[in-house]
Amino acid sequence: MRFTRRAALAVVGVATLLATSACGSDDDGGAGSTQVEVFTWWADGGEKAGLDGLVGQFTTACTGQTFVNGAVAGGAGANAKQVLASRLQQGDPPDTFQAHAGAELIDYINAGQVEDLSADYDSWGLKQAFPPGLIDNLTVDGKIYSVPANIHRANVVWTNKKVLADAGITATPADLAGFFADLDKVKAEGIAAPLAIGKDWTQLMLFESVLITDLGPEKFTGLWNGATDWNDPGVTTAINDFKRLLTYTNTDRDALDWTDAEKLVMDGKAAYQLMGDWEAADLDAKGFKDYGWFTFPGNGTTFQWLADSFVLPQGAKNPDGTKCWLKTVGSAEGQKAFNTTKGSIPARTDAVPGDYPEYQQAAMADWKSATQVPSCAHGSACSQGWQGAANSALGAFSTGQDVAGLQTALAAAAKQFAGK
Ligand code: GAL
Repeated sequence: MRFTRRAALAVVGVATLLATSACGSDDDGGAGSTQVEVFTWWADGGEKAGLDGLVGQFTTACTGQTFVNGAVAGGAGANAKQVLASRLQQGDPPDTFQAHAGAELIDYINAGQVEDLSADYDSWGLKQAFPPGLIDNLTVDGKIYSVPANIHRANVVWTNKKVLADAGITATPADLAGFFADLDKVKAEGIAAPLAIGKDWTQLMLFESVLITDLGPEKFTGLWNGATDWNDPGVTTAINDFKRLLTYTNTDRDALDWTDAEKLVMDGKAAYQLMGDWEAADLDAKGFKDYGWFTFPGNGTTFQWLADSFVLPQGAKNPDGTKCWLKTVGSAEGQKAFNTTKGSIPARTDAVPGDYPEYQQAAMADWKSATQVPSCAHGSACSQGWQGAANSALGAFSTGQDVAGLQTALAAAAKQFAGK
């Protein structure tokens, strides 16, 4: 029975599993099941609100099927990915799981863990529904293996408006120099750590934004496709700028998840946090209204994107139910129900901006005109192995502050993982 294995995973402390147990029903999730276990890391706040929206639409569109929540808490899937890897290895896949479009998806495709959905794309009309660039990112050897639910933006700074007003800050910083000057102004108001941050992957996000500023979007993208050398002097500049930014951050950073850092902003203990736009949804879900946002200083019109998508795992016990879930994820109604409460924008091109909150309306406009670059912290730019190596290198830098050491580690990671 699947509940037993999930409970066992929780007991060994791998992660907190929030699951709707199948106990008490005759359906044990095996062959012939009408349960669809959806595996994500959207367990709380705005992330859960987005998932709930999608589930509402699934329940309407997929009568006879039951949603089972396989969410494992932890930002960016820090815990969920470990649990998922072990379940896939044991031949116990959920009915569907969340995976990022781009390099991360290729990991699962190369491992033969996900099914080709090309024929379903044709029958559901999805090839016309999504932008051609996204379809390219999802296509491997002419086949498509997942259905994207959204587009998120990673390179956004979220602010506490009152803290900024108290420091006399009225304009958005145009570049890094302006940002440092504003950070100093907030510090002068007695806020010791004006830039809130959390552990490894959140530090990788901030570092990626600094790289975009110091290298420009084209050279930044080249870091992931082999066109830019990680030993480039621009990377050294970025590491030094990042090191300086860390002097404005909370010293307990390595112990915090993104929501803990977000709380520092909400509580007025910090002014800023660099985070993906799931933060908009989370602040809304938590009732915090006094927030602003701007693109990371020096990024210009660059939109660092990532997309959550869902797959049909090989060996899923209820493929019919999963297909109904996937069809819902790709539908106009499903994307609206999800994205209006998730902070992201729909991957579909036929959405109506007026249906969305203020932040998403701005993001939709930017997405159309901006220069797009991928994210390693969220799997569109790099494989999971590369991401793990980058997170470890950033974690070591947080403690050791060794500029040359970080650049050497990142160059070594690229050598080991590029193209794999
Ligand atoms: C990302 C994911 C987002 C959001 C975020 C924070 O990897 O794509 O949807 O959940 O992690 O947990």
